[in-house]
Amino acid sequence: MMIRIICFFAKICNRLHIKGDGEEIMATIRDVAKLAGVSVATVSRVLNKNGYVNNKTEEKVLKAIAQLNYEPNAVARGLAGKQTGTIALILPDIANPFFPEMARGVEDVAQAYGYTVILCNSDDQGHKEKSYIEMLKKKYIDGIIFASNTLGQADVEQMRRNNIPLVVLDRAPTRQLCSVIRSQNYEGARLAVRHLLEMGCRKIAHIYGPQELITAKKRLLGYEESVKHFPWYTPSLMVPGHFRVDGGLRAVKELFEKHPDIDGIFCGNDLMAIGALKGLYQLGVRVPEDVALIGFDGIGLTEITQPELSTVAQPIYEMGSLAAKVLIETIETGVTEPRLYELEVALVARDSTKRRTEA
Ligand code: RIB
Repeated sequence: MMIRIICFFAKICNRLHIKGDGEEIMATIRDVAKLAGVSVATVSRVLNKNGYVNNKTEEKVLKAIAQLNYEPNAVARGLAGKQTGTIALILPDIANPFFPEMARGVEDVAQAYGYTVILCNSDDQGHKEKSYIEMLKKKYIDGIIFASNTLGQADVEQMRRNNIPLVVLDRAPTRQLCSVIRSQNYEGARLAVRHLLEMGCRKIAHIYGPQELITAKKRLLGYEESVKHFPWYTPSLMVPGHFRVDGGLRAVKELFEKHPDIDGIFCGNDLMAIGALKGLYQLGVRVPEDVALIGFDGIGLTEITQPELSTVAQPIYEMGSLAAKVLIETIETGVTEPRLYELEVALVARDSTKRRTEA
């Protein structure tokens, strides 16, 4: 029965070719690669018209595709797992060092399993992410790692219907119908505030990221839960920094206009902490003597600021490598068992919070 269903689908995909004993089977990208005497990745480059292939090789591949009547599409992809040896990674902001480090984790694993990675940068714009997904559906890719936040349930459903394996990474909204990999944002925020308190801080502010992002939202929640019982706590101790350097610089000046007696600041990511450091310098406020400052992410830049920045480090590379492993397993087994992976974060205490605890 199953063979007949596959043959039926294959007829629709016009991809049938006949074995010697008359049995009809479906040509796959491996068959094309074998007949042309090239790798799956080369066939994928010819199909996707991305990456260099010399004319002679391209001719061999096209001849094999014609001979086998091979035509990959979403239905066939769903029945045959790895088709083109290509996966896509959609990132929201490649200018932020957090994402290239995460992409390195994806690419190292993908390469080890014989996959090419198409990197898409959406600049945090939902319409760009949607157009990437539409484009990718036509590019015969094997799966998508989505490291942004505009994917809704309907989008995930549609990709399931199109048999496009998907993993959501980092900024995953609530439970998805696919596997989700992120770090412990809430627990990490509590860790940051606890560290400032242990360093003797008596009034702590928070510069937060865009609240439409689950990562920024959980960090703000972690800050609020950690300080709301203190008599000095007031909501005006929380100001937006938009996950950007200039946002952190502006936010710290806004904070000091309202609360010049702040002696600790937790920033929702390292870029805002770097901006805050510059703003504090411009205000003539010493770090850590007057104000202890801590960020979140663990990007390399925190080691070259002066003073070096304390941070809550996410397992950035591991998040990317795990996402690639989960996606490739889904592609190659055809089994999608949606699972939430929340990876631990770690406090990295450096000079920007090294205060005399008797302060
Ligand atoms: O710095 C960029 C932020 O966006 C990181 O904290 C990461 O978790 C993402 O959500």
